[in-house]
Amino acid sequence: RGAPPTVVVIFGASGDLTARKLVPAIFNLGVDNLLPGDFHLIGYGRKEIPDEEFRSLMDEAIEEHSRRPLSKEIWERVRHNTTYHAGGYDEASSFASLAEKIDGIEKEIGREVQRLFYISTPPSVFEPIISNLGSSGMAKAHLHTKFASKVIVEKPFGHDLGSARELNAAINEVFEESQVYRIDHYLGKETVQDLLVQRFANSIFEPIWNREYVSCVQITVAESLGVGSRGGYYDTSGALRDMIQNHTMQLVALTAMEPPVSLDPESIRDEKVKVLKAIQPLALDAEDGDVVRARYESGLVDGEPVKGYKEEEGIPEDSFTETYAALRLSINNWRWKGVPFYIRSGKRMARRASEIAIQFKRPPGILFSEGNKFDVASNTMVISIQPDEGVTLVMNSKIPGLETRTQPVKMHFRYATTFGSNTPEAYERLILDAMIGDSTLFIRGDETEASWKLITPILDHWNEAGEEGLATYAAGSWGPKESEQLLASNGHEWRRSG
Ligand code: BG6
Repeated sequence: RGAPPTVVVIFGASGDLTARKLVPAIFNLGVDNLLPGDFHLIGYGRKEIPDEEFRSLMDEAIEEHSRRPLSKEIWERVRHNTTYHAGGYDEASSFASLAEKIDGIEKEIGREVQRLFYISTPPSVFEPIISNLGSSGMAKAHLHTKFASKVIVEKPFGHDLGSARELNAAINEVFEESQVYRIDHYLGKETVQDLLVQRFANSIFEPIWNREYVSCVQITVAESLGVGSRGGYYDTSGALRDMIQNHTMQLVALTAMEPPVSLDPESIRDEKVKVLKAIQPLALDAEDGDVVRARYESGLVDGEPVKGYKEEEGIPEDSFTETYAALRLSINNWRWKGVPFYIRSGKRMARRASEIAIQFKRPPGILFSEGNKFDVASNTMVISIQPDEGVTLVMNSKIPGLETRTQPVKMHFRYATTFGSNTPEAYERLILDAMIGDSTLFIRGDETEASWKLITPILDHWNEAGEEGLATYAAGSWGPKESEQLLASNGHEWRRSG
């Protein structure tokens, strides 16, 4: 998996993501000897920052955020080739000088280099950046060779279907789709990638992974954190845009998709798109609809009192942004017709836990029942995405003793126990994949549009309704009671994650 000589340009270089994730990821790729011999990093931002100061900031970022300690020796090689380029995002002249700088690097190396542009800015400047990459000629450099330029686009990819379409159109005017890498960092997580291995490298799960055997699927992406200092951004987004449209829908697609014909990017992405397209429009009525939204109030998280959302910094008085959303999805295809997929995501929930639970139908209630009560538990396969990564199978067992009584027991596989805990971070995998031109773990244009198509009517509906229909939940709980009803009407119950 060798990448060609590469210049990575990060737009938004003085931002939080660069320090927390991107530069530590590049450092760790260096530690693993996965960076090409000729590797250059250029930070681009509006602020004037001298090169040496930028390098020191990146040293600090690695010290603070890398999963492995800063090794000066390894970092020195990249550090030496790290510079900063100050410029506006809509300033053609700054892009022209950036292009010159990269041409200079190419001359110095004496062979072609790949240009990898990482757009990690607020979305308002995505389009000017893309258009300037086009007009400066950088987008087309070495097109149709392995040195072709690539662009990584961070989230949020649009804020509804219309804006996602516009952004796709703006991108596709400048870049060919094969050059475009839309990020969803959940796809870089080890456990998310393992989902396909669990499903398609084992023969025992796939035969029962369908409507004949599965009674429901529950996907939870819960965070115990509140919005912290991101209130200003978060209030314009909400749980549906911030987590459901992207991360959670990706988990749905990977859980529900058909086996791809091969592991090449298009085969996998084709299957994911088919799932997204098969999801039925959701019923939006307040009573008996498929959607629930809520906002956290004050409460206790880990025993500590925390503020309600409306009291957080930067939240407008008249905000009706949801910090929790739950959806009931119907996937209208041969495999899943009639099997509800319940998905939920929220801030300030009881604890951080992301998991996919496949709940199987119960055996016929003939044996092991007491009187009329048939009380064996449903078999459940729980794929724990984070933090305690692993797979758990819940099954029934006889309680030792002279009577025949059953009890659900768990069979656990834990990544940390089997493989150790120092696994690569999502961004390491994603930056490496983009450098070597593997787009499997990135979102294709039609995929993002299919997901927005489903989500946009919900957003419009909520926007119209304002505060009406917005439920509440105490910080530190598992969400509003309304979301229990979403499952109860089908005779299901959320699996408590704890
Ligand atoms: C981001 C959201 O995409 O994902 C954040 O904007 C959220 O609000 C984060 O906290 C969660 O990511 P992870 O990897 O910590 O689960």
